[in-house]
Amino acid sequence: MNILVTGGCGFIGRWVVKQLAEDHHKIWILDNLSNGRIENIKELQDNYQNITFVGGDIKNHILLQNLFTIDFDICYHLAASINVQDSINNPKMTFDNDIVGTFNVLNQCKIKRTKFVYMSTCMVYSMALSVNGIKESHPTCPSSPYAGAKLAGEQIALSYYHAYGLPVTVLRPFNTYGPYQKKNSEGGVIPIFIKRKLENKPLLIYGNGTQTRDFLYVTDCSDFVVKTGYSNKTNGKIINAGSGTDISIKNLAKRIVDTKDQIKYIPHIHPQSEIQKLLSDNSFAKKVLNWEPHISLKEGIQLTQNWIKENMV
Ligand SMILES: NC(=O)c1ccc[n+]([C@@H]2O[C@H](COP(=O)([O-])OP(=O)(O)OC[C@H]3O[C@@H](n4cnc5c(N)ncnc54)[C@H](O)[C@@H]3O)[C@@H](O)[C@H]2O)c1
Repeated sequence: MNILVTGGCGFIGRWVVKQLAEDHHKIWILDNLSNGRIENIKELQDNYQNITFVGGDIKNHILLQNLFTIDFDICYHLAASINVQDSINNPKMTFDNDIVGTFNVLNQCKIKRTKFVYMSTCMVYSMALSVNGIKESHPTCPSSPYAGAKLAGEQIALSYYHAYGLPVTVLRPFNTYGPYQKKNSEGGVIPIFIKRKLENKPLLIYGNGTQTRDFLYVTDCSDFVVKTGYSNKTNGKIINAGSGTDISIKNLAKRIVDTKDQIKYIPHIHPQSEIQKLLSDNSFAKKVLNWEPHISLKEGIQLTQNWIKENMV
């Protein structure tokens, strides 16, 4: 198939492209490199023939029109501003990229009848209340402009399914981690903690560390994303993917370092946008896609640490 991956030079996008390349598709990546790196796909371009990088922005109509002269079978839309604090500081940038940009890509998919896989996030949910985890029917809550933008993108995408019969699927992966994720404030908590440990610096926890997250290893996430594009059963659906287990940030830190002295608690930068408990219920993904995660948190931390050690600058 001909497949477009927006945000394909980013952390998750890079793994999605890898799996698509292993499946022998022709792939185009659209990325403005605002948070991704061309180096993330270098190894893939060296090893696979059919990966074309297009440098550009999803806000650029002309570029999108030209790009969509290619007949894409699937568009995996991952390009987005992803940082919660940035969205609080500068909501316009997040809304422009995550809502307007999504609308632009979706419109081209409508013209060419391209299946649209929209990468939303677990951050759209309000906190989990039970030990059973969050199903797709769980209440949402835009606790930050980032979550609000992602929810808006979901609704716009689903409206194209209902109004135009466009094949659209909305994905809500839980916190994803692994190699190629940034280790600075733009990245995720696991690589940030590992990097600080390797630099002999204390791990910094925002607030009291009782907030929990459900961590999904990146190859499990990319496997989920890719499969949703291949299946017609996902059209018009919202689908979760997580590990099905949550861990408090305090306990995560204790898994990464040996002693409590290596952990420091600092005031939260955005307590008002914190979601206290995030835990997925993956039963729908299992039913509709036969998808389930394979990498445990212990293995995933080890794999991530190995990669960070090899790539410390
Ligand atoms: N990382 C997670 O834990 C997680 C969890 C659930 C959902 N998501 C979603 O998955 C997607 C990918 O996240 P990620 O962690 O890989 O982030 P990332 O920042 O590494 O990837 C996003 C990519 O999009 C590109 N981009 C941003 N704005 C663009 C624009 N206007 N035009 C073209 N390209 C643009 C960036 O350069 C980057 O390469 C995002 O949509 C995010 O909301 C991430």
